[in-house]
Formats: sequence, C-alpha cells, structure tokens
Amino acid sequence: MDNFKDQLEIYRNAVNDALDKAIIDNGEEAVSAMRYSIFAGGKRIRGALVLAFCALFGGKTEAALPFACAIEMIHTYSLIYDDLPCMDNDTLRRGKPTNHVVFGESTALMAGAGLYARAFEVITENSVLMDHQKLEGISVLLSASGLKGIITGQMLDLKNRPGLSENEVMRIHALKTGAMIEASAILGCIAANAGKAEKEKARKYAENIGLAFQIKDDILDVEGSVEELGKTIGKDKAEMKTTFVDILGIEKSQNQVDALSAAAKKEVADIEGSGFLCALSDYLAGRRS
Ligand code: IPE
Ligand code: IPE
Ligand code: MG
Ligand code: MG
Ligand code: MG
Repeated sequence: MDNFKDQLEIYRNAVNDALDKAIIDNGEEAVSAMRYSIFAGGKRIRGALVLAFCALFGGKTEAALPFACAIEMIHTYSLIYDDLPCMDNDTLRRGKPTNHVVFGESTALMAGAGLYARAFEVITENSVLMDHQKLEGISVLLSASGLKGIITGQMLDLKNRPGLSENEVMRIHALKTGAMIEASAILGCIAANAGKAEKEKARKYAENIGLAFQIKDDILDVEGSVEELGKTIGKDKAEMKTTFVDILGIEKSQNQVDALSAAAKKEVADIEGSGFLCALSDYLAGRRS
C-alpha cells in the first residue's frame, strides 16, 4: 500500500483528537497525570486497529472512536502500572520520564485507575453506538484487561525466570499483550456490526500480529535503541526474564515475527480494502520503535 504511512497518521490524529476531548484538563493533578501519559507519544497501534477493522467492514469512524479511545486508555494504564517500581521499575516511557517519576507513585496509581475507569465511561456515555454494541465492546475490553488477558499475563511475567519453555513464554505473550491486540480488532468489527465470520478473520489476524508484536518487543529490548524506542533497553535480561530471544536467538525470533506477520496477512488478504492491514503487519514486523 503506497499511502500506508499517511493512513496511519490519519488514524493516529483521529484517535488523538478524540482522546483530547475525552480527558479534559481541569487542573486536577490526577487529570494532569492521566494526560501526561496518554499524550506522551504512543504509536496508537491498538486505536488504529480499531479504526481499520471498522473501515474494512464498512463501519463509520465515529462508531469506532470511543472504542479506540478506550483501548488506548487501558493500554496506557497498563504501561503506567508496568513501569512502577514494584513491577518493571522503569524510569523512561515514550521518550519521557515514567508517570511515577514525575507525579509520584500514589498519583501514578490513581492516574492508571482513572484511565481504566474513564475508558468504560467514554463508551457508556457515547451516543453513536447502540446499547448492544456498547455491551459487547465493554465485555471484550473487560476480558482482555482482566483474568483472560493483562492481569494473568502480567502475574505470570512477574514470576518469569530463566528456563521457561517456548510454550510458556508464548502463553505470557498472548495474555499480557496479544489479548489487547485481539480486542482492538474485534472492537473494530463490533463498531461496524460485522458478522461472526468477519470477526473470526479479524481475531486470527490479530492473534498473529499480537504474538509477533511481543516477540518484536523482546528483540528490540536487546537490539533496539533508547532514542528510537523511548524506553530503557536490556530490561528483560536485567530482570532475568525468559524471552523469545533467549529461546530462539535474534535471527530465529525475527523469522518467527515474519512468519506470524505473513500468516496474519493471509487471514485478511482476500477481503477488499485490506491493504492497510497488510501493510500494518509488515510495518510492525520491521519496526524500530
Ligand atoms: C508497549 O506497547 C508494551 C507492549 C505490549 C509490548 P507499544 O509498543 O504499543 O507502546 P506505545 O503505545 O507505542 O507506547
Ligand atoms: C508489558 O510488557 C506488557 C503490558 C501488559 C504492559 P513489557 O514489560 O515487555 O513492556 P515494555 O517493554 O515495558 O513496554
Ligand atoms: Mg513488564
Ligand atoms: Mg516493562
Ligand atoms: Mg518489553
């Protein structure tokens, strides 16, 4: 797709504008902390996925935007928590000092919880989505952010030690990262009122790019640059976590990323208008940030 970068920028801008309206600065410290992290410069891949799947299946952007905002808010909350001293103890995120470094741990906790709650409020107060779409979307978000996703994945990752098997690492990746990426694709389908078969294609596409995304994250933690990534590198090794790179090495891990990316494209390639999603899969496999 020739204009992939332009389209990604259009999606990013749409998500950023909607987020700006969803979290109004009122001078409260919690709100400042929420805005600090949400506007620190995330790639908005999850939001773009919502918009792209909605467009693919003929939905309107206005219906997808509340879901796109919600997924990016929940994702940002998960990063604020992931960086806390009791978790990965990171001081750099999105090229800026982490939330707790700037605002202190108590405010960072409230900012994270604030983003999580606001995510659902943005959906419930929306007037474009139908009630059945809201309910289905909320249920998808609760699963991906709860025990079927982030929470169980992060708990397993906290216990991640040298010697895990490929399957064990794959399970952590699927839960802590893959679930939210799958949710993004499904939310786009819900916004477009897509059918069962379409949702299943979207889910499989996202399952593949989701795993690829976290394997690439593991690779970049070894060979990425702080300037491009905007976060500290070498964290996984320092915390003695088993990653794909430990099990397969860099080259085979990248091969795995490329294979998953190809498998993702195969799921949607026959659908008219899937050029953006195919290009996105390639872009993510080769990303440096
Ligand atoms: C980082 O996600 C955390 C992982 C799940 C690997 P992203 O790389 O999408 O982070 P942002 O949103 O662009 O900062
Ligand atoms: C975090 O995984 C995934 C989340 C659910 C937030 P990582 O700990 O590898 O993410 P980074 O490398 O800090 O972004
Ligand atoms: Mg972590
Ligand atoms: Mg981390
Ligand atoms: Mg990482």
